Amino acid sequence: MLLTDKIKNVFPRITDVPKPLLNDIPYIQTGYLVDGEIRLWDGPRQEVISPVRIANNTGHKPLCIGEYPLLSETQASEALDAAVAAYDHGRGLWPTLSVAERISHMERFVFRMIKEKERVVRFLMWEVGKSLQDSEKEFNRTVQYINDTLAALKDLDRISSRFSIEEGIIGQIRRSPMGVVLCMGPFNYPLNETFTTLIPALVMGNTVILKPPKHGALLYAPLLDAFCDVFPKGVINVIYGEGRTMIPPLMASGKINVLGLIGTSRTANSLKKQHPNPNRIRCVLGLEAKNPAIVLKDADIDLAVKECVLGSLSFNGQRCTALKLLFVERSIADEFLAQFARAVNELPFGMPWQDGVFVTPVAEKGKTDYLNALVSDAVSHGSRVVNDQGGTICESFFFPAVLYPVNNKMRVYHEEQFGPVIPILAFDSIDEPIDYIINSNYGQQVSIFGKDPDQMAQLIDPLTNQVCRVNINCQCQRGPDTFPFTGRKDSAEGTLSVSDALRVFSIRTLVAAKKTDMNKEIITRIVRDHKSKFLATDFIL
Ligand code: G3H
Repeated sequence: MLLTDKIKNVFPRITDVPKPLLNDIPYIQTGYLVDGEIRLWDGPRQEVISPVRIANNTGHKPLCIGEYPLLSETQASEALDAAVAAYDHGRGLWPTLSVAERISHMERFVFRMIKEKERVVRFLMWEVGKSLQDSEKEFNRTVQYINDTLAALKDLDRISSRFSIEEGIIGQIRRSPMGVVLCMGPFNYPLNETFTTLIPALVMGNTVILKPPKHGALLYAPLLDAFCDVFPKGVINVIYGEGRTMIPPLMASGKINVLGLIGTSRTANSLKKQHPNPNRIRCVLGLEAKNPAIVLKDADIDLAVKECVLGSLSFNGQRCTALKLLFVERSIADEFLAQFARAVNELPFGMPWQDGVFVTPVAEKGKTDYLNALVSDAVSHGSRVVNDQGGTICESFFFPAVLYPVNNKMRVYHEEQFGPVIPILAFDSIDEPIDYIINSNYGQQVSIFGKDPDQMAQLIDPLTNQVCRVNINCQCQRGPDTFPFTGRKDSAEGTLSVSDALRVFSIRTLVAAKKTDMNKEIITRIVRDHKSKFLATDFIL
């Protein structure tokens, strides 16, 4: 079949969809979790349309995979009240539980979560169009993240289970919770990235309001019961609906202590401004990026092509860490381009459940139009689509477009495309990519491809002061999750990693006393008789 026909016929008939994948589709969700109970909502609901379209004799039709509640400000404010009451100025049950007890709740949650894997993965696939294989990876990675977080918390607690004596003062230093945390994740990793803020926030003793992303909301349905059964009431509240309606009043209440948001700097800036006491809100943000690759003339071209394809097109380029602009040294540009375009056109594309599929339909409404506009704009400024059929659209499917040569007059040079458009440009002087990075609004990561240790070292040193991760001969990425993940400028605020996240959702607090006989006696009695959870030397084994 010709490539153009393959693209035109990318969507299946309903009879071609494997039956088990359609179990409980469409799923009508009416429950939301507030104050330890799943409340039923009989108001308006949001229809969820999958990026997968269904082919019929006359063309294509959207597939409704479910509905979720469109709550109002009132329910959001009830969730806030519940979280505030459960925290109770740090006196609530959850913030005063011992670390060991909080860990035991979380272990029960993971056990329940694993039982729901099949449904969560299936919703993830339908809602965002992620391949079944990558959806499973996202689930497994999240379970691993929770387990690693619990191990890191045990370590942190062990280190804190001792006294320090300095300058005649006895002190015990621990990390304490911050209060009420608002967690919001993105559609591209609706489970994993949301959980990378939710889990550390909870285990550190905070109470949480969680709003799932617009695409990737139904997948929380199988987890609601587990949240409800495992955690004390009000500790986790899950609300659904339009962020624009529900979230600003929460921020304006001044009762949110930490904003954990993986999204855009526009949203983050506008939410921050709503808070009446900016000094009282801590922000943990993962935002946009426009990570470049720099391919030097001595690079291993096969390797560079392979990594740049993965980097720019994994999950259709819908990753904040994706490579979004490729700078290739002019003397190898033609060879790189030819290999790159060939590799892109060899990528398996199709439906998320198909074995080995790589490129799938995109989730956001209007996204193919946006990508098409980027391509047209680039073409009008002198670029061309290098690969056969690049940029061909069928409904929500966009065949990856490789653009060359790209220059600074084009929108795609500046905007974060977050999709399968790969802009490439040739450079003569290394100052060109470096200047791009210096002048960019973003500062997350960069990939450099080359072999000469001297030249690589000369690049690494200045680049580490521009971005937060320099990748040598490989694509940009977040993992391993134990590594710090952050960015400069408009790319992030705060650092996430298994252990850093425990820190950003807590604050160092200490109890101190002059080393007098009376104080020594008080402290000894408290510790010996287990009278305090803070002032304690219990060691988690
Ligand atoms: O969208 C941003 C994600 O944090 C990227 O994670 O590099 O593992 O795909 P990843």
